[in-house]
Amino acid sequence: MIDLQDKRVQMLEKSLRKLGFEKSALIEALHNAQEIFGYLDNDTLKYIATKLKLPASKVLGVATFYHYFRLKPKGKYTCVVCTGTACYIKGANQLIEALEKKYNLKMGQTLNDNSVTFLTSRCFGACAMAPAVVLNSQTIGFLNGQKIVDSVEGLRNKDEELS
Ligand code: FES
Repeated sequence: MIDLQDKRVQMLEKSLRKLGFEKSALIEALHNAQEIFGYLDNDTLKYIATKLKLPASKVLGVATFYHYFRLKPKGKYTCVVCTGTACYIKGANQLIEALEKKYNLKMGQTLNDNSVTFLTSRCFGACAMAPAVVLNSQTIGFLNGQKIVDSVEGLRNKDEELS
């Protein structure tokens, strides 16, 4: 379900407006959405289809045809680290290094237990909280390496307690 209060959705809407909501701008729209969200889930694809007045099947077809586009990752949760300018300046790389070291993986990969997929994005509108991450759809900011690892661990532990 698309949340219109979500800054990322507002950014996507703005970028679609800039493209004049043109059907021919579909690839650019998908590209922008992936830059904002880190991946393309069904709700985002449907949202783009509605805004560009295209059949959802066409939008899904294009998104799946091009390998560049990343559809919803296999992890139960996503941890999307912003690498936009403000976050980069405030140390996004340290967050990435801490996560890659802790979990012995690269961004774009998923933990072996499929609990979390780690991704990057290019600005999701939380620059004032840089460096920022969207973890399980929640934007958290003013992070450092330890804090982001703790947040991811907190999420994973919560899951274990419930199971
Ligand atoms: S640059 Fe990271 S949220 Fe804008």
